[in-house]
Amino acid sequence: MEGTTTNLIYLICISLFIIGLKKLSHPDSARTGNLLAAAGMIGAIIVTLLTPLESGANNYGWIAGGMVVGTAIGLTVARKIKMTAMPEMVSLFNGLGGACAMLISIVEFYNHPAGEPLLSGQMITTFFALFVGSISFTGSLVAYGKLDGFLRDSLVLPAPKLINMVLLLVIIALSAYTLMQPQLNFTYVIVILGLSLIYGITFVTPIGGGDMPVVISLLNSFTGIGAALAGLIYGNQVMLVGGILVGASGTILTILMCQAMNRSLINVIIGGFSASGGGTAQSGDEVVKEATYADTAIMLKYAQKVIVVPGYGMAVAQAQHTVHDLEKTLEEEGVGFKYAIHPVAGRMPGHMNVLLAEADVPYPKLLDLDDANKEFASTDVVLVIGANDVVNPAAKTDTASPIYGMPILDVEQAKNVIVLKRSMNPGYAGIQNQLFFGERTRMLFGDAKSSLSKLVEEVNNA
Ligand code: TAP
Repeated sequence: MEGTTTNLIYLICISLFIIGLKKLSHPDSARTGNLLAAAGMIGAIIVTLLTPLESGANNYGWIAGGMVVGTAIGLTVARKIKMTAMPEMVSLFNGLGGACAMLISIVEFYNHPAGEPLLSGQMITTFFALFVGSISFTGSLVAYGKLDGFLRDSLVLPAPKLINMVLLLVIIALSAYTLMQPQLNFTYVIVILGLSLIYGITFVTPIGGGDMPVVISLLNSFTGIGAALAGLIYGNQVMLVGGILVGASGTILTILMCQAMNRSLINVIIGGFSASGGGTAQSGDEVVKEATYADTAIMLKYAQKVIVVPGYGMAVAQAQHTVHDLEKTLEEEGVGFKYAIHPVAGRMPGHMNVLLAEADVPYPKLLDLDDANKEFASTDVVLVIGANDVVNPAAKTDTASPIYGMPILDVEQAKNVIVLKRSMNPGYAGIQNQLFFGERTRMLFGDAKSSLSKLVEEVNNA
């Protein structure tokens, strides 16, 4: 394929990426956005395959084999994955993207012609891609293990900050030394590769608890940077822009997540904050007040304004359709019904938005944290459905709490708070929640979906 035609098609593919990304910012257009970006990616792959290599080599057999195996695995995993396990899948796929950047760099080093100068922009880029890709690969695998639960947050390395600092300095020094040599010593490349892979593990291992979303989006931005660097190495514009888009959006998401959890990025990376199990909130001898379905149904039916606070438990129970049924039932009774969405409710960015969109909840009914907090004082009933940390007042009052400083939904300001959960078990941060013992709070124990079904039934019968 001719250079101008290739570049023109690349430009179209890049435009599709950008338009697709823009459309992802609203649930109504997100599906189209996803399809447009996927079309751009398919176009980029086809054009790249049709562009002959300078060496004249033809690896179509290998490429086709890789694509068939990769597509089969990707399709099977994506179809089977449960909504609640989506962050794990994102982590795993992200790690594979990092592995690609890592492998590209290794191949480039391996093929580096003897006698050509080492200290060049190209080689520095290749070292950087090797480093970033490797961290992203092993870091994402560790994040996957932590989210899946087979790697515990309690697994702590001795002196993690020191280990990380020393590793980083050794990697930088060895890379610089390798670049200064007259000939490329491939053994040094392998050592740098090994150290970078270890760094990915030691970088993510000390981080846990509430900081996981930040780390995942940070690793996502690393993968984007890795892909952009690979685009620079190959002089491939579509790879470069695609990588920049992933890197930039991952970075923006990281910053937004940090703000939502009131953490500085440096603090997340070197602080090793909030492994589950900390916190000092005490339940002491306090007892919780239990609600009944009949009383709650009457309270809801005669309320003027109801706000639902969904959390991870709603995802586990797959209760989004039932909560939408309750919304429709109460709206027929003239009750105002809205949803308060905390930015880190659930286990992935936008988790609650995706679930509620799947259940056809109209987007304008969703309030963000600031807007919701302005409304709670004038709300008759707040239904907390499988949420815990995001409504924990310890974030405002308990300086020893691992979630201290995280902005929360101030549900305790409402006239009545009904909490739907199965037990008094803590949420992700592993800490007790004083809200459950509050004067205006009642607990409705049980699986969120079956509790909501009973409530719909009771409201209809009341
Ligand atoms: P959590 O604090 O994790 O609380 C979820 C609650 O749901 C649990 O207390 C659990 O109590 C209840 N639950 C579980 N299954 C249930 C079911 N079938 N029916 C009813 N209740 C059920 O959730 P949250 O308030 O959404 O907070 C999210 C937490 O995850 C934050 O700490 C956040 O930092 C962290 N995190 C967020 C993300 C992103 S990006 N959103 C990613 C990783 C981590 P029972 O067991 O008693 O039912």
